[in-house]
Amino acid sequence: MTQVNQDKLSSARFTQATDAFVEIFTASVDFDQRMAQQDIQGSIAHASMLHRIGVLTDIEHDEIIKGLETISQEISNREFQWSIKQEDVHMNIEARLTELIGIAGKKLHTGRSRNDQVATDIRLYLRSEIDSIISLINCLQTALLDVAEREAETIMPGFTHLQVAQPVTFGHHLMAWFEMLVRDKERLLDCRKRVNIMPLGAAALAGTSYPIDRDYVAKLLEFDRPTANSLDSVSDRDFAIEFAAAGSLIMMHLSRFSEELVLWSSAQFDFIELPDAFCTGSSIMPQKKNPDVPELVRGKSGRVAGHLMSLLMLMKSQPLAYNKDNQEDKEPLFDTADTLINCLRAFADMIPHIQCKKQNMYKAAKQGFSTATDLADYLVRKGMAFRDAHEVVGLAVRLGIDSNRDLSELSLEELQQFSDIITEDVYDVLSLEGSVASRKHLGGTAPGRVREAVQLAKKQLKI
Ligand code: ARG
Repeated sequence: MTQVNQDKLSSARFTQATDAFVEIFTASVDFDQRMAQQDIQGSIAHASMLHRIGVLTDIEHDEIIKGLETISQEISNREFQWSIKQEDVHMNIEARLTELIGIAGKKLHTGRSRNDQVATDIRLYLRSEIDSIISLINCLQTALLDVAEREAETIMPGFTHLQVAQPVTFGHHLMAWFEMLVRDKERLLDCRKRVNIMPLGAAALAGTSYPIDRDYVAKLLEFDRPTANSLDSVSDRDFAIEFAAAGSLIMMHLSRFSEELVLWSSAQFDFIELPDAFCTGSSIMPQKKNPDVPELVRGKSGRVAGHLMSLLMLMKSQPLAYNKDNQEDKEPLFDTADTLINCLRAFADMIPHIQCKKQNMYKAAKQGFSTATDLADYLVRKGMAFRDAHEVVGLAVRLGIDSNRDLSELSLEELQQFSDIITEDVYDVLSLEGSVASRKHLGGTAPGRVREAVQLAKKQLKI
């Protein structure tokens, strides 16, 4: 009788034991055990299908399900003994099942391969991570809406080239962040469509000779449908790359929010106060309060972009179908999901507690001749060509710089020396309030429009 070596996959084929280092080198159990519950979920569905098509008896089916449920408990209770000898999460669970229920355990793998099994596990895992990430984005968006509503009238300088450009409302600025997150969510939902397709049944690469019912398994696992081609099923990791791409964009957005928070909380801007709970001190400079959380989030955006590159390079030039290279997809994927979840959580918790220093924002908006465009628009409304108006305003700004005054602080006589069509009503447009109030079209910064945008967004988020 053939000697069955439980410690080595396909043992009968081998005459030599695996090199001790190679065993460690090729094992993935240290990181893929994270997909244990998905692996069990997939196995339960597979066993149910094998039972349905008559491959497993009632008793075998019941034993397998009970055994898998026991293992699930053991894993949740941290009692499960993971072994590197069993290489990965799939083999560890299957070996334990056989230990628990005997021969029936060995029948679970009928009509299946670890190649379609692992592809299924990753998809199940990613699907639930996407759902968690989307709910965290919803939390962050809700926080942004609350602050935007509160600060709909608060005036701050809007920047281009990080130079004061035109006054905007703080609420409007926060709603710009909100919009980025709207797109982020759309991208995740779109990616989810391609994640939620079931590769199980492709087996190693060519399918199986058993009369499997893939639609049934897909339904049990709540996949939208089974995949269409067995070779593609086991080798496709496009969905993982898409997830990393969507994740990279989210992190890029968070890094931009972070950068603004870091700048705004500096002594030079002094627009906001970050909550103490989200900052730390310096070990040497007692006066310091460092914006650690936004800085760390900004830094972490790099690693997610790196994971996207790793996954793209991992798949580049791989011949069909499954290759062991693919084992390298897990760590970048897991870390992408973890980083997104942690960073979004930090932001969602921090945003509601940001204090806005309205007076400083207002003062800064007054400083950079931010209503110069409003003066030009005023002249145009009075009949001047825009290019001429641009010239007139340039002269007025020059006078302001030379005498260290804002446009609104120049006298009517002083303004009239540049154009006699300027009258007393010019001061309405030179004020910051007048400037923002006039931008009341769809998408504009006027407080009324900001409140409207917040209401609309609340309705869309169902809050
Ligand atoms: N641990 C492997 C992975 O993560 C599972 C599939 C292994 N299949 C194989 N034929 N070696 O991809």
